[in-house]
Amino acid sequence: MKRKLAVIGYGGIGSWHCKNITEKIEGLEVKGIYDIRPEACEKAKNDGYVLYPSVKDLLEDDEVELVTIAVPNNFHKDYSIACLQAGKNVICEKPVTMNAEELREIIRVAEENGKLFTIHQNRRWDKDYLMIKKILAEGTVGKPYYIESRVQGSRRMLHGWRGYRENGGGMVYDWGVHLFDQLFKLIDSPVISVTAHLINLYSKEVDDNFKVFLQFENGISALVEVATNCFINQPRWHICGSNGTVEIKNWELEGEIVTLGSDEIMKWEDDIIYTAAGPTRTMAPRPEHTMVRQPLPQVEGGWASFYNNIVDVLDSKAELAVRPEEALRVMTLIDFIFDTAKAGKPQSCRI
Ligand SMILES: NC(=O)c1ccc[n+]([C@@H]2O[C@H](COP(=O)([O-])OP(=O)(O)OC[C@H]3O[C@@H](n4cnc5c(N)ncnc54)[C@H](O)[C@@H]3O)[C@@H](O)[C@H]2O)c1
Repeated sequence: MKRKLAVIGYGGIGSWHCKNITEKIEGLEVKGIYDIRPEACEKAKNDGYVLYPSVKDLLEDDEVELVTIAVPNNFHKDYSIACLQAGKNVICEKPVTMNAEELREIIRVAEENGKLFTIHQNRRWDKDYLMIKKILAEGTVGKPYYIESRVQGSRRMLHGWRGYRENGGGMVYDWGVHLFDQLFKLIDSPVISVTAHLINLYSKEVDDNFKVFLQFENGISALVEVATNCFINQPRWHICGSNGTVEIKNWELEGEIVTLGSDEIMKWEDDIIYTAAGPTRTMAPRPEHTMVRQPLPQVEGGWASFYNNIVDVLDSKAELAVRPEEALRVMTLIDFIFDTAKAGKPQSCRI
């Protein structure tokens, strides 16, 4: 029998959850929706869902075992707590809360009520990330020492509530939370230093672009960037390891791995090389025969794993994939990034 789920917030991602659960998740059925916007309610009704007149009605529906919360970020905490106290299991959209303290409160309530609480960190199942995860796990480029992870666009806009501080707008919350979550899964070491450049180019209230540099205790450093004003995009991922480099250029997963070949020992050129820009020897291009070029590995992506894991957890067949403690670490970093940006200089930490 399918477990029944309700969704609070039937906007962009709320309706996406419903459509995908219905099409792809065998163990779940979307029963109903609560939203405060008449157009969203109308759409939910037309799409065939029960429309709850209030959250109270949703929470009193004993058939509903799980609730997905897909409203602007400032409403996540109160809805999560209300659902958990009503005995529902909760899937909350990212960023889980506005800060770490709010999340601690939710975790307490989830524990008190013995209910599942998880966060929709769906980008753990994106193919680009899974490729990088595989490459690093297999040591294909040797020991990594520098990671660049970024998303860049040029639309110069923040959709609706994303432009307002009160709602938890801005790119650190919106995209940063995904990129930091991925990075923490890739690097098993505490962050010991943060440099944060949050940019307000056209938004009055929130960061519309940012650059954050993190140093980890194990010696790896990472640059995380989100841009909405970049007209020539840099690679989505660029990673330097002791034995090679990997790059994933774009959303289409173009990219390659380049490693040292077997006759990697290069003799110094006797003469300076004259390039179009000027003379160099150290930076002169490496001869092609001293390198090995490989395609990016094949991986199985698939967002459905997120919800299938939740069904398996409820059936006591699996451990929870996205644990609240992991989100707490990301929120602690985000709190620290905002503080560091205010301080205007790099800050030490242990996160
Ligand atoms: N994981 C992802 O990839 C991903 C992608 C997009 C959005 N999100 C997250 O999902 C959440 C919603 O984002 P969105 O893009 O769908 O926004 P949206 O504006 O498209 O939709 C939000 C919906 O919530 C409703 N709403 C607003 N306040 C409400 C309230 N107090 N009670 C009930 N309903 C309310 C709105 O009417 C709207 O229908 C955000 O937390 C966002 O960060 C996650």
